[in-house]
Amino acid sequence: MAGPTFKDLEHEGWQNRAAHYDDWFGQISSQAFPFVLDAAGSDLSGLDTLDICCGPGHLVALLAERGAHASGLDFAGEMIRVALAQHPEQDFDQGDAEDLPYENARFDLVSCCFGLLHFHDPDNAIAEAFRVLRHGGRYIVTAWQGPEEAAGLVSVMMEAIQDFGTLDLPLPPAPPLPRFGKPDETHRSLAAQGFMDIETQVLPITWRPDRPEAVLDMIEHGMVRTTMMMAHQEDAARDAIRAAIVERVQAFDTGDGLKIPVPALMAVARKPD
Ligand SMILES: C[S@@+](CC[C@H](N)C(=O)[O-])C[C@H]1O[C@@H](n2cnc3c(N)ncnc32)[C@H](O)[C@@H]1O
Repeated sequence: MAGPTFKDLEHEGWQNRAAHYDDWFGQISSQAFPFVLDAAGSDLSGLDTLDICCGPGHLVALLAERGAHASGLDFAGEMIRVALAQHPEQDFDQGDAEDLPYENARFDLVSCCFGLLHFHDPDNAIAEAFRVLRHGGRYIVTAWQGPEEAAGLVSVMMEAIQDFGTLDLPLPPAPPLPRFGKPDETHRSLAAQGFMDIETQVLPITWRPDRPEAVLDMIEHGMVRTTMMMAHQEDAARDAIRAAIVERVQAFDTGDGLKIPVPALMAVARKPD
């Protein structure tokens, strides 16, 4: 019998992290929301918006505060349960970003924050976002930048795994993690699905944990793919990776505590009229 797919493992990982998402990864990812809202505009009255990979639904609620008929979609039922508990007045659907349960041209604005790197086929997910947008509608996506773009949380984790463990792991095939942190690649991928007027911006997100070891807790409680990569290392390699992460993040001690860069790329694009 075939083993779990990448999507199966992602789904299980997010189901398990939903209840405490805001305590961990949400502290970092939510820093992108003011930039997304600026790009969306201050008055969204009467617009239909969809936040794909909505997690606990906070961006949906913020879009609704600006007047949008805002809805969110996530494939993890536990995330939808948390979103409905926190924002009972908003609409949330459980569904797959790669096969959206909406008719063509239904939305004026579609966002997807830190979702693309979790998809089995991100190009298909971009095509689905394009399909459900009306002509002239806008698409806003954010993704983490990798080691080639910037030093920070992602580069420390990836380089520690490369230096002390291996990336050649018995995991189902998955797209490269930092792909959509690269402006040129993001531009090319959005244009390939028909988007125009594509603009990208680096978001200067930082994380201020109270101690270096908190990075290991963040990985365990907040990150699905990195947890998979750690779980499949040999025991000695995993110990060495963990020690290297704790040591290397101390380079981001400002004297006033840790300030770890977690830069992200935001892309804003438009479906042609
Ligand atoms: C890193 S979280 C981002 C949540 C939120 N957008 C934020 O910025 O805090 C990724 C989210 O994507 C969801 N997700 C991953 N793959 C998905 C898919 N194929 N379809 C729908 N949701 C998916 C997960 O359940 C999780 O809630």
